[in-house]
Amino acid sequence: MKRIAILGSTGSIGQNTLEVIRNFPDKFCAVGLSTNSNIDILYQQIKKFRPAFVCVRNEDVVTRLESKLKSKGVKLFIGEAGLGKMVQDKRIDKVVLAISGAGALAVLLKAIESGKDIALANKEAFVIAGPIIMKKATQKKIKIIPIDSEQSAIWQCLKNEDKDKIRNIYLTASGGPFRQAGKKDLENISVHDALRHPRWKMGPKISVDSANLMNKGLEVLETMYLFNIEPQRIKVLIHPQSIIHSMVEFEDGVILAQLSVTDMRIPIQYALTYPQRLTNRLAAIDFCKLSKLDFQEPDFRRFPCLGLAYRVANEQGTAPAVLNAANEVSVGEFLKNRLRFISIPKIIEKVLDKHRNVIDPGLDDILEADNWARTEAYKFIHKLR
Ligand SMILES: NC(=O)c1ccc[n+]([C@@H]2O[C@H](COP(=O)([O-])OP(=O)(O)OC[C@H]3O[C@@H](n4cnc5c(N)ncnc54)[C@H](OP(=O)(O)O)[C@@H]3O)[C@@H](O)[C@H]2O)c1
Repeated sequence: MKRIAILGSTGSIGQNTLEVIRNFPDKFCAVGLSTNSNIDILYQQIKKFRPAFVCVRNEDVVTRLESKLKSKGVKLFIGEAGLGKMVQDKRIDKVVLAISGAGALAVLLKAIESGKDIALANKEAFVIAGPIIMKKATQKKIKIIPIDSEQSAIWQCLKNEDKDKIRNIYLTASGGPFRQAGKKDLENISVHDALRHPRWKMGPKISVDSANLMNKGLEVLETMYLFNIEPQRIKVLIHPQSIIHSMVEFEDGVILAQLSVTDMRIPIQYALTYPQRLTNRLAAIDFCKLSKLDFQEPDFRRFPCLGLAYRVANEQGTAPAVLNAANEVSVGEFLKNRLRFISIPKIIEKVLDKHRNVIDPGLDDILEADNWARTEAYKFIHKLR
């Protein structure tokens, strides 16, 4: 029985992870759960999965849960510090990091330091401090197993392969809801439009990132750090059917691809069961019903976020933290109807242009750059009003 802690259990990845755990009651149990402030969903999860401990990050909402938990024998951790303590509990075998945003970096580092294997969904924390995280993971001899479907695909293609023999990695992208939209159409995108992803049901932040291809840009950075490969050899391919989740081309011209239906429970299950595969009842591909698989080059002019991500992948240092922070602020403001969809890349570019990159940064440099970029992004957004 593997004991799993799910950080961000009330979100899209968190809830899918609990479904996987429910499908294998003799293999996994949810020993710890956490939310930012979604007490109602967390309480339902506590009743169903009976974790030993939970954490609520937002201290303002916690009292409502405290009284309910008294009779349940569930330990309650509170706030950022509580989350850091919870993740070090010796009863945890694997941590699923399903919190969104770079704010998850501190708890990710705590989990690694306490020797836990990580099933990684969060990409923001990873891309701002990839080299530090990978170094710590090696020192602690723990595994970082990706949940993101594209990274999971690459991870699976590379199992038992010589990583020195990679020629290119092909990261596939559905193209999002505006794949065929003209430049003029992109000027009037509402929040409702941006959240309607054609293939995946996800949380709001990643849905907006997918709509303007920033999500693919973050994945370029994720791939670069996770598999130690230069950005020039990471190629993005628009593949609207989202059947091939990514591919690895080797030096001998052979390409390995991973295919499955679009269901996040598949990569989540693999991240939990790795290196084993377990039988499930999820839908499978029916090849005879697939009329075709299409591939196109991404349009960097209509989707400048992707180009900005390649730019910081080449610059490295604190530039990825700046890109991510300016993006988090801009997407947050867009979701509150305070910034236009097309202004998101403009804000990020302005902040990046003003940034003085620190090469080979320490954690403090990264956190400082993150903080600085958030302030700058707000300043540029205010100027637009
Ligand atoms: N969804 C997908 O299919 C998918 C695929 C690949 C990768 N990812 C990545 O996985 C991460 C999660 O995505 P998601 O779509 O599951 O997001 P989501 O639905 O918005 O869920 C986020 C979870 O994190 C919690 N949370 C948010 N901010 C927090 C904070 N500051 N401290 C502690 N907990 C916090 C939320 O709590 P509340 O419920 O209280 O808000 C919720 O439980 C993202 O980094 C995303 O890029 C997602």
